[in-house]
Amino acid sequence: MKERLEALLNKIESFEIKAIEQTEQFRLQFLSKKGELNDLFEEFKSIPNEYKREIGQKLNVLKNKAQEKFDEANNKFSSDKLKNTKSEIELTLPSEVDFAGSRHPLAIVENEIVEIFKRLGFVYEDGPEIEDDWHNFSALNFPENHPARDMQDTFFIAEEIALRTHTSSVQVRLMENQNPPIRAIMPGRVYRNEAISARANCFFHQIEGIYIDEKVSFADLKQTLFYFVQQLFGNDINVRFRPSYFPFTEPSAEMDISCLLCKGKGCNVCKYTGWLEILGCGMIDPNVLKASNIDPEKYTGFAFGMGIERIAMLKFEVKDLRTYFSNDTRFLKQFESI
Ligand code: PHE
Repeated sequence: MKERLEALLNKIESFEIKAIEQTEQFRLQFLSKKGELNDLFEEFKSIPNEYKREIGQKLNVLKNKAQEKFDEANNKFSSDKLKNTKSEIELTLPSEVDFAGSRHPLAIVENEIVEIFKRLGFVYEDGPEIEDDWHNFSALNFPENHPARDMQDTFFIAEEIALRTHTSSVQVRLMENQNPPIRAIMPGRVYRNEAISARANCFFHQIEGIYIDEKVSFADLKQTLFYFVQQLFGNDINVRFRPSYFPFTEPSAEMDISCLLCKGKGCNVCKYTGWLEILGCGMIDPNVLKASNIDPEKYTGFAFGMGIERIAMLKFEVKDLRTYFSNDTRFLKQFESI
C-alpha cells in the first residue's frame, strides 16, 4: 500500500497541466469517483487497523495535494479564458459616436452674438412673429404714410396684423413691460415682401439690442458695438459710423467694419471701399420711450439691429443667401465641427 501511495504521489506531481483540457483529464484520473485516489480509499477500508492511522494521514495529504494542484490549474485557465473573452469584446474601448447632426450656420452665428452680449450683461428675450401695427410701426414712431407700411414691403395677415418686418417690435414689448434699466438682446425671424435673389429673401433673421438707463450716451453705444465686433471678428478690426435715418432712433447711424478679406485695401467683396456695412443703430427716439411710458427726461437708451445672414455670409464667406435655406446637406455638412 505504501509503495502505491508513493507511486501515486509521483504520478500526481509529474502530471503536467498545460491547457484546460488537461485539467479535466487530471480530475478524471485522480479526483473523480472512478479515479485512482478513490481506488486507494476503497482499499484503505480493508487494511488492518494498526496501519490505518499512518496510511490514512498519507492518503489525506495526497488527496489535498491533488486537489490543490487541480484548483490552481483550474483557476489559472479559467481566468485565462475570461481574459480571452474580454479581448473579443473590449469593454474599455470608447464607443462609436453616433452622428447627431450639425448646427445651422445661422444658429452658430446667432448663438455666438448672443453669448458676446450676455458677457456685457444683456439678457436674452424674444417676441411674436405675427405682430400688430402698434408694435411693429406706430410705437416705433413710423409716420402713418411711411412706405414700410405698404403692402409692397410688408406681409399683412389681416387689417393691422402683419408678419413682423424687424425685431424692433420686441423692444417695444420689453419697454411696455419692464422698467429701466433694460439691457436685452433679441434674435428672431423677420419677413419682408422682397424678390428672392442672392442678396435678398422674403424672410431672414435679425438680432436687436437695447440698453436703457439713466445717462446712457452715444459713447456707450459706440464702445459696446466696438467691443462686440472685436469679439466676433478679432481685435484688428476697425469700425466707422455713418449718419443714417430710422424713425425710432435719433441720432441714427450705420456701422461699417473694415473689410475682412482685404483688411481695408479694397476688393470686390467691399466693392473697393475697404468697408462692409453690418448694422443700424442709434439713440432711442424720445417719442418711442414716451409711447411705452418711459420718461425721456429721466432715461436715455441706445438700440441696434443687424441681419444674421449678412454676418454669417461675411464670417463663412457664403456668396448666395439662398444656400442658407435650400437644405443642401453638402453645404450644411461643412459646419459639423463648429
Ligand atoms: N430695425 C432696423 C432694421 O430693420 C435696424 C435697427 C434696429 C436700427 C435698432 C436702429 C436701431 O433695419
